Amino acid sequence: MYKIALLPGDGIGPEIVPQAVRVLKAVGQRFDREFQCETALIGGAAYDATGHPLPEETLRLCQASDAIILGAVGGPKWDNLEPHLRPERGALLPLRKQLGLYANLRPATVNFALADASPLKYDLVAGLDILIIRELTGGLYFGEKRREDLPGGGQKAVETLEYSTEEVERVVRLAFTMAQKRGKKLTSVDKANVLESSRLWREVVEELAKEYPDVELNHMLVDNCAMQLVRHPKQFDVMVTENMFGDILTDLASQLTGSIGMLPSASIGGQVALYEPIHGSAPDIAGKNIANPIATILSVAMMLRISFQLEEEAAAIERAVDSVLQQGYRTGDIMQPGKIRLGTVEMTDAIIREL
Ligand code: NAI
Ligand code: MG
Repeated sequence: MYKIALLPGDGIGPEIVPQAVRVLKAVGQRFDREFQCETALIGGAAYDATGHPLPEETLRLCQASDAIILGAVGGPKWDNLEPHLRPERGALLPLRKQLGLYANLRPATVNFALADASPLKYDLVAGLDILIIRELTGGLYFGEKRREDLPGGGQKAVETLEYSTEEVERVVRLAFTMAQKRGKKLTSVDKANVLESSRLWREVVEELAKEYPDVELNHMLVDNCAMQLVRHPKQFDVMVTENMFGDILTDLASQLTGSIGMLPSASIGGQVALYEPIHGSAPDIAGKNIANPIATILSVAMMLRISFQLEEEAAAIERAVDSVLQQGYRTGDIMQPGKIRLGTVEMTDAIIREL
């Protein structure tokens, strides 16, 4: 029996998480596995109900579970709250930190059937299979922040970008081991020509590389990397980078696949791992049954593979998604002329039928 915490959150979160759970239950039936799910509040929904975006109870449920599935948090309704009460800063960042989830794995793959949904040319992306590993609990997002009033009027705002040897080492080590299991190529992305934290990052990577002689390593500056991801994305296999660079590059990479609604992620490194789509709460399309559930459904596949070592079950979900796309079924975000448009629930129905 596997115990799973469900945190639907805000916006489209409460639409897509239940769909992913339906797929999970279908897998459970087919492979005779028991998944016990319990739901808790997070984000704006939690703030509205309890006055805090990350209630104690939610954190405790996560700590007592074998894995966590998160929808997304945030929305305009909560944007003007005090920073520590806002869904992202008050719930998402502390949850990752408290659970020690220092590595965020974001695969970007392009199914051949879907390559024409990408804004890039078919040949550039068809068959793309890269894995971006983003450091998740350090860097600018967690460094000291402050504001000062300037004597001459106006203000000064300060953020701090900090990384220790240990913080770099653990995530880079993970990246080397992942590269060993995949195409044996690792690109470390930094800004070592300007940032001191990036110089340390690069030194640590160089040191670790000696332990992984079978992995071909190269360093790339982040600005060049943004360009290379668009120019020739298939040159990459595994990429590893610090928190903010990873945040930006993974959104960019999501567009190679045609839609942010397709990409899953896993955050690992602590006792319990967290799985979520890389998109946000999409308030512009919430409540309309048009959100693409595939990113969340593929996040469930990642959970089965990484947290529970249920490879066959994970692969069955991925094959079902591929096959449904192959048959021409699309949600609005990946719609193309001549294809069949489905809503959130109907897309999930199709995937479950295929399973
Ligand atoms: P977003 O990812 O929510 O939406 C960006 C665009 O992609 C929108 O046009 C949206 O409709 C579309 N989109 C996103 N997911 C989709 C799906 N599954 N199917 C079809 N279309 C989809 O990012 P945005 O608009 O910048 O942020 C909205 C809210 O989400 C903000 O409050 C933000 O703070 C929050 N957010 C939360 C995250 C999380 O919980 N991990 C991550 C990113 C943003
Ligand atoms: Mg982001």
